Amino acid sequence: MTMQEKINELLEKRKEARLGGGEKRIEKQHTQGKFTARERLLMFLDEGSFEEFDMFVTHHCTNFGLEKEKYYSDGVVTGYGTVAGRLVYVFSQDFTVFGGSLSETVSKKICKIMDQAMKVGAPVVGFNDSGGARIQEGVNSLSGYGEIFQRNIMASGVIPQISVIFGPCAGGAVYSPALTDFIMMAKNTSYMFVTGPKVVKTVTNEDITVEDLGGASIHSTKSGVAHFAVDNEEEGIIMLRELMSYLPSNNMEEPPYMATSDPINRLEDELNQIIPDNPNKPYDIKAVITGIVDDGKFLEVQPNYASNIIVGFARFNGMSVGIVANQPKYLAGCLDINASRKGARFVRFCDAFNIPLVTLEDVPGFLPGSGQEYGGIILHGAKLLYAYGEATVPKVTVILRKAYGGAYIVMSSKHLRGDVNYAWPTAEIAVMGGKGAVEVLLGKEIKAIEDPVKQAEFIAEKESNYRNVFANPYVAAHDSYIDDVIEPRNTRFRVIRALESLKNKRLENPAKKHDNLPL
Ligand code: HXC
Repeated sequence: MTMQEKINELLEKRKEARLGGGEKRIEKQHTQGKFTARERLLMFLDEGSFEEFDMFVTHHCTNFGLEKEKYYSDGVVTGYGTVAGRLVYVFSQDFTVFGGSLSETVSKKICKIMDQAMKVGAPVVGFNDSGGARIQEGVNSLSGYGEIFQRNIMASGVIPQISVIFGPCAGGAVYSPALTDFIMMAKNTSYMFVTGPKVVKTVTNEDITVEDLGGASIHSTKSGVAHFAVDNEEEGIIMLRELMSYLPSNNMEEPPYMATSDPINRLEDELNQIIPDNPNKPYDIKAVITGIVDDGKFLEVQPNYASNIIVGFARFNGMSVGIVANQPKYLAGCLDINASRKGARFVRFCDAFNIPLVTLEDVPGFLPGSGQEYGGIILHGAKLLYAYGEATVPKVTVILRKAYGGAYIVMSSKHLRGDVNYAWPTAEIAVMGGKGAVEVLLGKEIKAIEDPVKQAEFIAEKESNYRNVFANPYVAAHDSYIDDVIEPRNTRFRVIRALESLKNKRLENPAKKHDNLPL
């Protein structure tokens, strides 16, 4: 062969590889509203930046006549590229090749890019679209999953790992995404479950559709497995790129700085009126968040799950931060099992990746009830407490209104090494709300009053006395548990100043093998 012929051969092989399982299967993928593995990568990565690895590998299986059916790349496209100029390693399962099923070869390809990513400290983004273990390969396929899981575990907290589910992800295959930091799902085309509807029917006699068992809506509202549910793949990829803009490439780096023209001393006058006079009335904490962050931009994580706590990414004067906020509009902003788990995981992610935490607090306490106690709120609530207490990133807290009881301590208080703790003049820092306190302290006196009108008057008077003493920030300020009482409209400026003062914060926890977080 001449040199030109050899080059032509290479180009032909590449062309063949790019067709994956062939045009018919690509067409089927498209008619289902799905992009192919390569299309997804080309959409996600900066134009012209994708470098593919292992394009010419094929599987080694000889069972069930599989040796006669081979496709270049064997069910996954892998390599690296850039997102906004920053290096990222990627894999994208190719459903057109054996349903994207995981062979030993597929696993080796995925492990190779994970190992490279760990060597150079770059994130891994994986697009999942697979029928699970390659059935013909038996235990070799299972071993492949195990190798990936082990790498997910070692990479956890070292490089960001993001799983995008744009098709099936079933059986043990769900556990790689579960070990990563964020899961995104597309509505109507993706699903995740440990056992599918047929097995469910056999074992429990329950009739359930794929969507109702493990669709994007279920996992983004009920189970909390998915952090983002998007309407389609294009929307998902835009969101994915936005998410990455807040994250450092690894745990040794600071998150990227993004210049802003939003003035640091911008006064947000509406915040001076946002807290209702009646302490039992809700307001939308999201209006506070978007009012104080750069350009009102907030990327909410798990927006439809445990809405009593809001978590997500934003920037203050270009600095990436994680925001954790109680939402008085939902369950009065109390902490329950799901909110505690959601908050704890987010706080730990931010701490692992050097992203400062800004906490906006308005919390009446933990949700009471046997449902919560039986479900283990003691342990789950402890997760959030633990996460805040172990976090060494800069922690800035603003108490807007209620900060009651244990929940006051949990939400990044001074006692858990909060660095700068502010309160609005509307803050109420107390062991519990006025009504509860009066009932506990004066129960006997209240019972002794027979006339119900007089009884109500007595309670109202005592409650008012209690509130006069505790429903303010000055008792805590007096004892230096908060650093200053600030005007609400000036919150942006004060938070930015605090974050800037903490830029060189150095704090380390004692050396240990690992902690024993209450799981
Ligand atoms: C080998 C597979 C495959 C698999 C699909 N295919 N899944 N090949 N191993 N696991 C092949 C099909 O034979 C078909 O080949 C092509 O992929 C497309 O599949 P279809 O069934 O035609 O597609 P669709 O109708 O869209 O259905 C998709 C599906 C279904 C729901 C995912 O294929 C399915 O149920 N697959 C099996 C799922 C499963 O039970 N996997 C094992 C789970 S246990 P052709 O040649 O026709 O294109 C597991 C353990 C992991 O994963 C443990 C880790 C610890």
